This record gives sequence, structure tokens and C-alpha cells, in this order.
Amino acid sequence: MHEFKYKGNDFYCESVKLKNLVKRYSTPLYIYSYNVIAGRFARLQKAFRPVSALICYSVKANSNLSILKCLVKLGAGLDIVSGGELYRAKMVKCPPGRIVYASVGKTEKEIREAIEYGIFMFNAESEQELDKINTIAKRLKKKTNVSLRINPDVEPKTHRYITTGKKETKFGIDIDSARKIFLSRRKYGNLNIIGIHIHIGSQVITAAPFVKAIKKIKSLNDRLRARGVLLRYFNIGGGLGIVYDKEKPQTAHEFAQRALPLLKEAGLKVILEPGRFILGNAGILVTKVLYVKDIPHKRFVIVDAAMNDLLRPALYGAYHKIVPLFRRAKSQELRAKSVDVVGPVCESGDFFGKERKLSVKKEDYLAVLGTGAYGFSMSSNYNSRRRCAEVLVKGNKSYLIRERETYKDLVSKEIIVDI
Ligand code: LLP
Repeated sequence: MHEFKYKGNDFYCESVKLKNLVKRYSTPLYIYSYNVIAGRFARLQKAFRPVSALICYSVKANSNLSILKCLVKLGAGLDIVSGGELYRAKMVKCPPGRIVYASVGKTEKEIREAIEYGIFMFNAESEQELDKINTIAKRLKKKTNVSLRINPDVEPKTHRYITTGKKETKFGIDIDSARKIFLSRRKYGNLNIIGIHIHIGSQVITAAPFVKAIKKIKSLNDRLRARGVLLRYFNIGGGLGIVYDKEKPQTAHEFAQRALPLLKEAGLKVILEPGRFILGNAGILVTKVLYVKDIPHKRFVIVDAAMNDLLRPALYGAYHKIVPLFRRAKSQELRAKSVDVVGPVCESGDFFGKERKLSVKKEDYLAVLGTGAYGFSMSSNYNSRRRCAEVLVKGNKSYLIRERETYKDLVSKEIIVDI
């Protein structure tokens, strides 16, 4: 799926020349391709069709309402983690029966609102949380579905900040405690504890850790079945990795080939929660070169986007490819030099790429690739910078899906006390 590519020397998203979007909406600007979003969703759907899996897109990856709307229209459910994400799910009219709710710290208000909306299932992460959901459901005279999020203690071989399936992380319940909870499930009169949830980490490149985790869960399910506990759902979480640089991640098909036999044997209905797999390579961040600054032995390309717009390089040392919106002909190439692409924020962690071979001068535009997931959704107003505008492209049409914030937006909730 190459929806971001050069035609001649100009960089395009689908059939739209990005230079035109920049003229219209200015920079920094997030641009997404509808075809990539729909295509990646379709690939997963196809790969997991043999078990008719419910695919709940993980809202945190990119929670723009138009993007959620597109995915819901394509048949996706939503994986939410907060009252705010539930609010978004309601706004795009996601059928409640397609919403699953994870998070180690759901508040009473969040639980109540989710039960009232009639979500499909909570992924509960502790006994205290189960008690709380049960009490609230009782008060509302409702019965609600729950999966236990289990921490399978496997190593997903990804960045340690996005490793979630190892026993020392805060996520889920260990297998032994979970088994005890399942056996005592009747004490929760207002809960149907009918499923198991895992999410071992994010940007996981190989199937092996998933397979290991699924095997552990399968054996737990077998033991429970022998004791008369008949579960119905197995939510295998998200985490599928994508290409940022030279990674060779499993494809949806390869992943399904490894996972499906085990999932079929387990005989449970399968749920997936992909975020990055669908959105990661569906978006780019376009930024303008403000200055090129040479110091002895080094060149900095200073751009108008910053770590507040895209935090991944600063937070995880993440690699994102950077390409020019307009490619100079070879003969006109400036002496290609190794450069650091940096933003204007007063922190040395404010960079997008280090030692990149880029032939740029001031007022050029650059695209930071692979930023559709965890790009805008992790952005902030640090340094009192306004958050970016976002544009969705489909074919030869482009749609503004979020306006650039104004200075007024920046201060709209603040109160000046003159004391
Ligand atoms: N399900 C649960 C319970 C999760 O916690 C997550 C992500 C997902 C699904 C979706 O995972 P995905 O398919 O997108 O890998 N900010 C980090 C990623 C954090 C992931 C948090 N949880 C980054 O920029 O790499």
C-alpha cells in the first residue's frame, strides 16, 4: 500500500499533491490516507475471517472523530481506555455492542457511564476493580460482561516503555490469581465473567511472543473448562508492529497463520485491538524548514514542528523516516549532508531525526513518515504551541478533520487571579 509516494518530484497522498495542502492549511500539518486506513483494516479482517473476529480499533492510537467514524462505518468496534474515549465512541455512534474497555484505573464515573451506554465488555485488571464494577452494575440494576486481563508474563521484545505483558508491569492479573477469580466468579452477581484479555505490548515484530502468550491462555482455558468454567471470548489485544525503518514485521496473514490454529482449538470467539497496525503508516507530519544552522562538523535543520506535535522520538528514541515534499533533481542537489532535524522547543530531546542524509534549504517542506498512530494523539501544548491541524485524504479529495488551534484555545480554560 503505497499511498504516500512521489509523482515526478512531488510527494503525494493518494491523488493529492501535498504542496497544495500545505499552501491551504499551513504547517505543521498531519495528513492521513483513507485508503491506507481502510486497506489495513481490511487486511486484518480478511486474515481473521476464519474465526469471524471482532476487530476493535484502539482509539488511543489516533482518536480523531472522522477517523473513528470511517472505521466504525467499515465495521470496526472500538477499544477504549477512558471516559473521554467513550465520549468519542458515542459521538461517532459506535454500536455499544462493539466497545471494549481496558485500563488499569477506571474511575467510578467512567464505569457507570460505560455500563449505562451498554458497552460490550470491560477488560478488568484487578480484584478491586471487579468489586467496583460489580457494585456499580448492581446499583444500576444491570449485568455487565467482563473479561479478565491476564498478564501472561512473556517478553514481547519491544521498547521497555511499551512492554505490557511481563509480570513486573502494572498490567493485568497473573494466571494463578485469575484462575481463582474465575472459579469464584459466582460471587460477582452482576458480572458475566466470560472472557480473557491479553495485550503483551506494542510494536511487536514477530508472532512468537503472541503464540507463547496464546498457548499459556489456552492451557488456562483448558484447566478452567475441566472445572466447569466455560468462557466465551478471547481478546488477544493489539500490538502488531509496522515498518518504520528496516523492520520486517509479520504480515496480518502470517500472524493469522500462526495464531489461528491455536485460537480455533481454544474454541473462543476472538477479539483484536489493533491501533498502530491500522493507523501507523496511514499518516505523516508535514513541517516547514525554518532555518539551516551549521556549527563545526554538524548541520541542524530547524523545522516548525516540535516534540509537542510528535513525541515518539523524544520519548522512545523512535525512528521515523523523513523525506522532502519536493525532491530536487540530482543535478540541483545541495551537497547532501548528514543533518539533525530538530524542532524549536527548548529541550535537546526535541528532535525528529539524527544524522539523516537530507538535501534541504530553508523554506523547504519535510514529511515525517509513519506518524498516523501515536502522533497527534500524544501531542500537547508544551511551550504554548498550538496543536496541529489534521487533514484526511481520499482519492483526489481532502477534508479538514481538525482545525489548527488558536491562541484563544490555548488559554480558554485558564483563569487569571489577580492576588
Ligand atoms: N490494547 C491495549 C489494552 C493497549 O494498551 C494498546 C496500546 C492497544 C490495544 C493498541 O496497541 P497497538 O496495536 O497500537 O500496538 N505510545 C506508544 C504506544 C503505546 C501503546 C499503548 N497501548 C508508541 O508511540 O509507540
